[in-house]
Amino acid sequence: MTLDNIPRHVAIIMDGNGRWARQRGLNRIFGHRQGAESVRECCKQALVYGVEYLSLFAFSEENWGRPKEEVDALMSLMLDSLINEKKLFLDNDIRFRVIGKTDGVPEEIIRGIGELEEATKDFKTMTLLVFFNYSGKWDIVQAASAYAASVAEAVRAGENPPALDRGDFDGLLATSGVPDPDLLIRTSGEKRLSNFMLWQCAYTEFYFTDVFWPDFREKEWASALESYSNRERRYGKIK
Ligand code: IPE
Ligand code: IPE
Ligand code: MG
Repeated sequence: MTLDNIPRHVAIIMDGNGRWARQRGLNRIFGHRQGAESVRECCKQALVYGVEYLSLFAFSEENWGRPKEEVDALMSLMLDSLINEKKLFLDNDIRFRVIGKTDGVPEEIIRGIGELEEATKDFKTMTLLVFFNYSGKWDIVQAASAYAASVAEAVRAGENPPALDRGDFDGLLATSGVPDPDLLIRTSGEKRLSNFMLWQCAYTEFYFTDVFWPDFREKEWASALESYSNRERRYGKIK
């Protein structure tokens, strides 16, 4: 399929792993494992279409509230992915970045993330952003705190406080340097943001599908991108 309007930045709320497993009489953890396969396929599809930034919501700050067994399984899947997907990134010129808090994240995962970010930092074909231990409200609050600290610093030095416009605020967010998402996909039939990129999605196009994340493969990518290609983005103006 040729589409003349490919989103530069695609963000995905990967939802429905648990229900995918339950439908099959399996433990939820099998759903997360199958979901990790979809992540790999997703990177490949993004490369095929020439998407520059792919953002995946993998673990929210609120997901700590799940049973310990499930949280542990998600942490160990993250660790496995850091090891198993390295070749995919190196072979395909994919830069890897993690967005989120480090608080509570096991030390070996923090180390693994740092190593993979360093190994891929000069890669240019695509940037994969994994949102892990992330929430949109956390990011806004940490950016506001950083600004407040710079104001306090200026006052102490007897200088004028630094200016703050929308662009400056973008630069204080954990997603600094990344353009806002053009297309946000959420799987599994849920139609909410669940605290994902609240600031950055101001003018993002949304695409919702009932397909569970472990089943979100090539055909679903094509449908999402086809839907996007027919949108008219107006940004409050008249066309
Ligand atoms: C998405 O699938 C993965 C994470 C939130 C980590 P869920 O685990 O939320 O699956 P459902 O929504 O319960 O089916
Ligand atoms: C959102 O899914 C978070 C991730 C996909 C990582 P959830 O399953 O946690 O969201 P809610 O609880 O249904 O809103
Ligand atoms: Mg869910």
